[in-house]
Parts: sequence; C-alpha cells; structure tokens
Amino acid sequence: MAGYKVYITRMIPQEGINLLSSVADVTINPDDAPLSRDALLNEMKNGHYDGVLGVLTDRIDGEFFDSCKGLKGYANYAVGYDNIDVPEAVRRGIPVSNTPDVLTDATAECAWALLFATARRVVETDRVMRSGSWTGWGPLQFIGGDVKGKTLGIVGAGRIGTEMALMSKGFKMKVLYTSSSDRRNAVLDAELEAELVSFEELLRESDFVSIHCPLTPGTRHLFDAKAFALMKKTAYIINTGRGPVIKEEDLVEALKNGEIAGAGLDVFENEPAMAPNLAELDNAVVVPHIGSATHSSRNNMALLAARNLMAMLEGEKPETCLNPELFEK
Ligand code: DGY
Repeated sequence: MAGYKVYITRMIPQEGINLLSSVADVTINPDDAPLSRDALLNEMKNGHYDGVLGVLTDRIDGEFFDSCKGLKGYANYAVGYDNIDVPEAVRRGIPVSNTPDVLTDATAECAWALLFATARRVVETDRVMRSGSWTGWGPLQFIGGDVKGKTLGIVGAGRIGTEMALMSKGFKMKVLYTSSSDRRNAVLDAELEAELVSFEELLRESDFVSIHCPLTPGTRHLFDAKAFALMKKTAYIINTGRGPVIKEEDLVEALKNGEIAGAGLDVFENEPAMAPNLAELDNAVVVPHIGSATHSSRNNMALLAARNLMAMLEGEKPETCLNPELFEK
C-alpha cells in the first residue's frame, strides 16, 4: 500500500500522523484552527486527495463530496457524527468512519467532573478565593447539592451514558435512563438495577440529568423551557453530548429563575459562542468541549481514525464504519 494522497483538516496527535505517513503522502492544515468552508472546499478541489481525516467542525455533505472527486473515504476524528451527511455518503458509495470506544471513559469522567463541580460549586468558590473576598469559614456559605444516594438520570444510555452510570456505583445512586428504541440496557439492568423510564419521568425524578444522546433532528432542543419546567428545582443538568440538544436561551432562563439548580456544560449550541448571559451565571460551570481531551483518549482517536482511513484507501471496511452497508454485497 503506498502512493495515496491524504489530507488532515486539523493538527491531531502525532501518533496518527506517523501511522498515516507510513502509507500515504500526508498534507495537514498548518494552522491550529478550523478551516473555513471555502478553504476546505478549495483544498479538496486543488489537492485531489484519496482520503481525508477531518474533525467535528468540518461539514461533510454533498457539496464537500462534490469538491473531492475520487475520494475513497472520510475518517472523522470524533465519535459524534452529526457533521456528516451519512445518507449522502451512502448514495455516493463513499465510506465514512468515526472514533467510538476510545473516548468513552474520558467523556464519562468529564461528565462526573462537571457533576461535582456544579453540585459543590467548585468553580464559583474558586473565583471567590482568587478575588480575595473570602472572609473565612461560615455555616451558611456556599451550600451545594448532595450526590451520594441521589437519582442520576441518563438521557441516551449508549456507550458513554452507560459508563457514566456505572461510575455512580460508589455513590450508591439510583439510576434511571431513557432509550430512543425503548430497548432495555442489559448492563445497567444487571449491574445497577437501573430503570428504563420515559423522558418526562426521568426529568421529574432525577437529581442529576446527564445528556449522552446523539444530536439528531429528534433530539435538537430536546431540553427546552417545557423540559426544564418538569425538572426538580434542586436538579442539575450535565451535557457532554452535543450543545444543540439544549435550547441554550431557555437554559439561561431556567438557571436565572431558579427552575433548576445548576448546569455543567462541555458543549454549546453555537460553539465557540455561548448564549447571552450564560457566562454571568454562577450556577453554570462551562468548559470548552474537553470531554475526550485526555492524552490516551486523543492519541487513540488519532490512531483509530488513521487505521480507519488506511482501510478505506485499500477499499476495505474500516473498524468503526458509519455506512457498513457499502461493504455488504
Ligand atoms: C466527539 O468525539 O464526538 C467529541 O465531542 C469530541 O471528542
């Protein structure tokens, strides 16, 4: 295998670049910033690449495919693939892949970091310390929410949602979960005696609601004013999935009006922007889409995306293929 031309749309960990370079002539966007749409399409038109490894900020749709004739495959450096028009890739017979599993633990841990930071007001009180305004210990200061024994609601019990739930064992939490297919999660049932419930019941009963469903037309703005009104006033929402699952302006109102107690957010509706006034709210903890940002997770994402692209260049099914039907003949 040799002689392929590959483009990487954003600098990724070196392990993945080295692996791809062993079989292909690799060109990388030299800036540590997303390519503009025009820059991406022009690069595709002029570069005549056999394969592309891209990131979640690249929109991979019919227009993209039009700009890269002869593309043998596209490897997404992310598990979420709402940036890819998979049916369009199927129509064109172009295989596409993502990077599941290798970031499951890191993302579930990030959800827990946000859960604790939000419940115990870690970021807000860090700011108090740094400002020099703390006057010493007081019985009524900075009281937050309990975690042990509380109810954790998992919206979307896929790989990451399941791992987040399993990590609750030590805190002896009751676990509720939703499933878009109404299918029970055997692991959660066996390990935690978790309950599969409706979305509305999960909202009403949970002390912590953690979002892990993919972004689809059906989950866009799943969390709006109506959903927040169903939640307990003492409940917290955590989102390490995709920002647009929450209607962010409604979340800001719910946080301001005390309809829920707090929010821990890794993802945002219009990244990198946040909804007006969100940044001013002490009961919101906001971090910049770092769910998978651990050394091993990001390295393994690079290696998996590289292996996937190498398979696709050879006309083989990648390990984690989003349109496996292309290989079923
Ligand atoms: C993903 O992989 O979808 C995350 O959002 C980024 O790692």
